[in-house]
Amino acid sequence: MSLGTTAAVALVGLTGHVVEVQAQLAYSVPGFSLVGLPDTALSESRDRVRAAVLSSRIDWPNRKITVNLSPASLPKQGSAFDLAVAVAVLAGAGQVRAAGLDRVVHIGELGLDGRLQPVRGVLPMVAAAVAAGRTDVVVPTADVAEASLVPGARVRGATTLAQVVALHGGDPGTLPDVDPVRPARVTSVRRAPGDLADVLGQELPRTALEIAAAGGHHLLLTGPPGTGKTMLAARLPGILPDLTEAEAVEVTAVHSVAGTFDPGGGLLTRPPYEDPHHTATPAAVVGGGSGQPRPGAASRAHRGILFLDEAPEFGSRVLETLRQPLEHGELVIHRSGGTARFPARFQLVLAANPCPCGMATGKGLECTCTPMARRRYLGRLSGPLLDRVDLQVEVAPVGRAGMRGEPGEPSAVVAARVAAARAAARARLAGTPWTVNAEVPGTWLRERLRGRWSVMRDVDRALDTGAISLRGADRVLRLASTIADLAGRDEPTAGDVGQALVLRTGRAA
Ligand SMILES: Nc1ncnc2c1ncn2[C@@H]1O[C@H](COP(=O)(O)OP(=O)(O)O)[C@@H](O)[C@H]1O
Ligand SMILES: [Mg+2]
Ligand SMILES: [Zn+2]
Repeated sequence: MSLGTTAAVALVGLTGHVVEVQAQLAYSVPGFSLVGLPDTALSESRDRVRAAVLSSRIDWPNRKITVNLSPASLPKQGSAFDLAVAVAVLAGAGQVRAAGLDRVVHIGELGLDGRLQPVRGVLPMVAAAVAAGRTDVVVPTADVAEASLVPGARVRGATTLAQVVALHGGDPGTLPDVDPVRPARVTSVRRAPGDLADVLGQELPRTALEIAAAGGHHLLLTGPPGTGKTMLAARLPGILPDLTEAEAVEVTAVHSVAGTFDPGGGLLTRPPYEDPHHTATPAAVVGGGSGQPRPGAASRAHRGILFLDEAPEFGSRVLETLRQPLEHGELVIHRSGGTARFPARFQLVLAANPCPCGMATGKGLECTCTPMARRRYLGRLSGPLLDRVDLQVEVAPVGRAGMRGEPGEPSAVVAARVAAARAAARARLAGTPWTVNAEVPGTWLRERLRGRWSVMRDVDRALDTGAISLRGADRVLRLASTIADLAGRDEPTAGDVGQALVLRTGRAA
């Protein structure tokens, strides 16, 4: 019996684990089996590997072949193991040089014609390999750029199985060169367009957007159609600071697994923007799918913006699924093969018409909805969801005067104030688990600030008289902190608290 051994990487969520791929070739009844918890895609791998070897005009060993992937306890999904399986078999058959091969990580799907197809998740796979001391990786040519982003990786690319065989000192066969496979990137990371200078009027919503950016607060914009809600939301990423390096690595890994990362521009350094349509299914928002699970919109928005336009039109199950990431900053996808976790710490922006017909604004004279329908409409955004939205503002139609007015401040100017405010908040919150005001729990704020902030008296009095609820008080304190940070003040003034009260038109105060 002879053995061939190489390595691959199994991804669980964003976490990669090095897997040993070992082929045993015995002189017995010819056959080919794969063991070690394979899912269906892995079993199909058997057929692809055999076809790819034969298409490459390489002899398929006529023996009893058993390929073992270990540790067996790891769920192994997807097609990225094909190349390692093929290399292990050919090493066992003596068709490639076996020495040192066990240290090399092979990643890639094989086409029936012997071409190497790019796979999702190359960045976290290679990162895991390097972290485990396996710096030698072989990937499909189309994935070389992405793999090369991992510091310390020694990346080699190949277009066909035959080229990989040649790489390992084997006879590449007589197959003519084939064209490299184009990376099958369907979409790439959404970058929201536009500058705040495009938005006319809308002083209050613009202020709300700036406060949301500075404090990381979730935001609800309500108002009739055509007032600029979508415009405003799309301009939020543009006033957020760059991602830190650690955040950039994490966000890029999510998009690598999602298949929405184009490595041409290096790691993703700007906050992503995701705006799923209201017809989106829970799976599209949360993630899932067969084989290697894909992160959904909520994870692709990690460290960026998740914008739900026409939010009440979303299915209640979709809205319900957002509670987990809003609370825990991650999404857990349960599968028969195990559990995948994807980070999902996004800033939520909701836009909504005030009622089904959209006209219930101002005096609401043009609204044709029944009072019942009006109440129900925003009620679809359930309490638990809205409870987490500190900022709730109305966007009114821009009058003629507004339309003729000066263009608004450009995003760059606002972004500079946001960056300064974030720095101030980070300094104040140093030593806590939080970096932005929106993350700070109410109890901490109230305890910490009682006796320190003079304005706490006003808040306490409003609480005592029942003018605001405890939850409302927490929101006011968080928003007032951000307003003070933006103004360069250590602590909020009564005026800041007043503004916070206005910006939290929160129906459920
Ligand atoms: N405040 C505004 N400033 C400039 N253009 C606006 C404004 N509000 C609306 N518009 C114009 O109307 C279009 C629709 O705006 P949109 O943001 O989609 O409104 P909403 O989401 O409130 O329905 C925009 O593309 C823009 O051309
Ligand atoms: Mg809109
Ligand atoms: Zn109406």
